[in-house]
Amino acid sequence: MPTVNYNKISHIYDDVRQADIELITHFLAELDLNDAATILDIGCGTGNHTDLLQKVTHSHVYGIEPSAGMLSRARQKNRHVVFQSGDAAHIPFDDDYFDFVYMTDVIHHVPDINSMFAEIKRGLKTNGNVCIVTQSHHQIEQRPIVQFFPGTASVDKARYPDIDQIVAQAAAQSLKFIKTTVLYENQAIELGPEFLELVKKKGYSMLHLIADEEYDEGVKRLETELRYGTIKSTLSGETLVWFIKP
Ligand SMILES: C[S@@+](CC[C@H](N)C(=O)[O-])C[C@H]1O[C@@H](n2cnc3c(N)ncnc32)[C@H](O)[C@@H]1O
Repeated sequence: MPTVNYNKISHIYDDVRQADIELITHFLAELDLNDAATILDIGCGTGNHTDLLQKVTHSHVYGIEPSAGMLSRARQKNRHVVFQSGDAAHIPFDDDYFDFVYMTDVIHHVPDINSMFAEIKRGLKTNGNVCIVTQSHHQIEQRPIVQFFPGTASVDKARYPDIDQIVAQAAAQSLKFIKTTVLYENQAIELGPEFLELVKKKGYSMLHLIADEEYDEGVKRLETELRYGTIKSTLSGETLVWFIKP
């Protein structure tokens, strides 16, 4: 399967994704993140969530990211966050260092999830928390974009581990499963010209992974439907999978 080149899309990434305030609010409600807390964002990309979390908590926030292009954008965003080159299986910090480790929309890029959980466990303090923010296979099938680009569902179900697989692989590294929480499922939205524009910029990574003919056909259908006004749809939601290091 081809992979997404984040260096190439780093310059348009922030046109497509912004920090998710509701997600950060949810983290704050779940955890006691005081000024002394150490927090790691794995695969922080352009630092959207890392930046917001640092601003609202004043905790010690760190981000690691393998793409030089994404990392450079992150560094420009917030000089109070320590951004370093690294990946999920190579966390460049000492053992027992972090109170909270999270990753948003990254696990489907990680080639070896067992090594990732072993490395997260090494970097976490005892009683430290982990949150993996991702989508279940069911949520992938329900995405609004699948109406126009059906091939993106199979491409992404092949890339994304489903939730029970994530729980099993974390358990194999002795991380204790706490719970899953779901955000945004079935929330009504309207797809308008901005959606078409983002599709045309190929700001959604799965559009880089389907055949050109399917992409062209989907864009045409989307353009045709938008001639009659916005398209009513619903969000398929995100799943947060929570663990603790016993
Ligand atoms: C969809 S972006 C998400 C970025 C950021 N977490 C956010 O929510 O905006 C996926 C990110 O994962 C990074 N990535 C790819 N492979 C990775 C790996 N093995 N470990 C950690 N991050 C990885 C990519 O470079 C990219 O920045």
